[in-house]
Amino acid sequence: MSEREHKVSRRQFLTYSLMGVGGFMAAAASLPMVRFALDPALKAGAETELHYICDLDDLTEEPQSFNLQYAQQDAWYESEANHTVYLFRHGEEVVALSSTCTHLGCTVAFGTNEDHPDQFFCPCHFGRFEKDGTNVPNLPPQRPLDRYEVSVEDGKVYLGSLIQNR
Ligand code: FES
Repeated sequence: MSEREHKVSRRQFLTYSLMGVGGFMAAAASLPMVRFALDPALKAGAETELHYICDLDDLTEEPQSFNLQYAQQDAWYESEANHTVYLFRHGEEVVALSSTCTHLGCTVAFGTNEDHPDQFFCPCHFGRFEKDGTNVPNLPPQRPLDRYEVSVEDGKVYLGSLIQNR
């Protein structure tokens, strides 16, 4: 190849220079916006917060409802989360179940159905769950109640993240 073929015209040089500078300026301008948009997602991996619920001695083998309340950050919106949680002892284990029905999200309650006093009952479409959260077959809910991560320290019960049951 001759040197002449590699020569860059003044017009090409100007075009490449402007493209380079323009590209750099566009990247510099958009990076803070991308960082701002991804900020909540980048913080999502932060350590799980534990919330005190009750003393271990307060729990029996019968599910009891407790109020789980904490400040939550949903992207840039801060609010107060308020959930009803059912806790009970199962041998050495403490089980914490969400009261949100896995069918369409109504609130379930334990022992409110006269015919099934040992189950969770959802009044919206008559869904039922066993005491351990397993959904009763052939009813609207297709999966068990979700569970909370439980931590017991010095006789006090704390709840962490909600773990989706499959
Ligand atoms: S929402 Fe609970 S059975 Fe439909």
